[in-house]
Amino acid sequence: TLIYILNGPNLNLLGKRETDIYGTTTLEAIADECSQVGAEFGLQVKMLQSNSEGQLVDWIHDAREEAAGIIINPAAYSHTSVALYDALNTFDGPVLEVHISNIHKREKFRHHSFVSPRAEGVMAGYGPHGYALSMRHMARLLKLG
Ligand code: DQA
Repeated sequence: TLIYILNGPNLNLLGKRETDIYGTTTLEAIADECSQVGAEFGLQVKMLQSNSEGQLVDWIHDAREEAAGIIINPAAYSHTSVALYDALNTFDGPVLEVHISNIHKREKFRHHSFVSPRAEGVMAGYGPHGYALSMRHMARLLKLG
């Protein structure tokens, strides 16, 4: 069983970018942690990152064929993208939204996410570890844990 973990713009710089907010953990390290958690439940992980909205839409379409669930950190597109919301609505499996920082504690423009109404759950402010915690919850949603 395959899970897609999709990451939006600027998250390729995780570990180097605004480390006071996002910490020093890289996306690669997060991918490793998620793969380890996935292995506990027989889940495989495909970790993807793009700075382009259209690429993320295309990957969500691929997930329709390939993935049992999607974990997504849409990054700044959370706050702007009806296209990602629409794409996620074409996907039948569970969707979990993750934010490294607590978006509700930050600027007002980060408080709203277009993606959240499609998500079974939203995790914000648990740091990089939020991804692995979401993996555990995904296993539960898929009745594997
Ligand atoms: C983020 C929060 C967003 O507001 C921001 O644009 C990001 C990262 C987070 O993981 O905390 O790029 O999604």
